[in-house]
Amino acid sequence: MKIVAKIAELKEILNEYRDQGKSIGLVPTMGALHQGHISLVKRCIQDNDCCVVSVFVNPTQFNDKNDLKHYPRTPKEDCALLESVGCSIVFIPEVEEMYPEEDNRIFDLGSAAEVMEGRFRPGHFNGVAQIVSKLFYAVEPNKAYFGEKDFQQIAVIRAMERQIKTGVEIIDVPIVREDDGLAMSSRNRRLTESQRKNAPKIWETLSKSYNFAKDHSVEETTNFVIDTLNKIPEFKVEYYEIVDGDTLQPIKDWIETKRPVGCIATFCGEIRLIDNITYSVK
Ligand code: PAF
Repeated sequence: MKIVAKIAELKEILNEYRDQGKSIGLVPTMGALHQGHISLVKRCIQDNDCCVVSVFVNPTQFNDKNDLKHYPRTPKEDCALLESVGCSIVFIPEVEEMYPEEDNRIFDLGSAAEVMEGRFRPGHFNGVAQIVSKLFYAVEPNKAYFGEKDFQQIAVIRAMERQIKTGVEIIDVPIVREDDGLAMSSRNRRLTESQRKNAPKIWETLSKSYNFAKDHSVEETTNFVIDTLNKIPEFKVEYYEIVDGDTLQPIKDWIETKRPVGCIATFCGEIRLIDNITYSVK
C-alpha cells in the first residue's frame, strides 16, 4: 500500500494504472476509520483494480469550530487498518495541499441541500462539495463510494456531480451498525460511558417507529420519535423529518412517496449523531 500526501505524486501513480486500462475507485473519508468505512473500502476493492482511500478532515465543511478541533484524528491506526484490508493507495494530504488558497466556489446543490443538515449546518454541504470535487479532480476515479448513514450527503453529492460532470459514478453503501444497533460513526468514540449506553436507543426508537408508522400519520410518527428520544437523559433531538427518499423534501402524507425515509440528528450530550430509516407503509 502506498501512502501519498501530494496531488502531483498521486496523479503520477494513478496515470500508470490508467495507462494499463485499470479501473480506479475512491473512498473519501475524514479518517478515524471504523467498520462502516471498511465496508466501503471492501466494496471499492471488489469493484476496482485500484482502491484509493482519502483521509482528510476537511475544515470547510465544519460550521462549528469546536467540532473541527475535537474531530478524532488517528492516521497511524487508519493506515494500518487500510493496509490490512488490501487498500492500494492512502491519500493523506495536509490542509495546504487541498486548499493552497481560499476556495470561494459556491455550488448549486438544489433543494436537497436546503433541508435538515442544510438548515442546521449552514455552509456544511458547500464545504463537502468543495472537497469532494477536489478529490474527484485529483483522483479521477471511475466510481466513488459513500455510506448511507449520511443519507442526505449522497443526494447532495449527486447534485454536485450533475453540476461539475466529471463522470464519476456515485455508489451508496448500506449503514453498518454495532451489535446493539448504533450506526457506526467516528463520533461514537467521543461518547461518555453513559451516553454510549443510551445511544443505541436512536436505532431502537427508529425501528419501533417502523411498525408505529403502519397505522399512524407522518406527523404522529415524527412526534413519536422526537418525544421518545427527548425523554432520555442527555438527548436533544435537533430534527426528525420524514422525507421523500429521492428529493429529500418533507412529506405530509405517506402516499406522497414510494420511498419515505426518516432522518434524525440528535445531540447525545455534546455529540451530534445522525441516522435514518426507510419506511414501508402501504
Ligand atoms: O462523509 C464524510 O466523511 C465527509 O463528509 C467526506 C465525504 C469524506 C467529505 O469530507
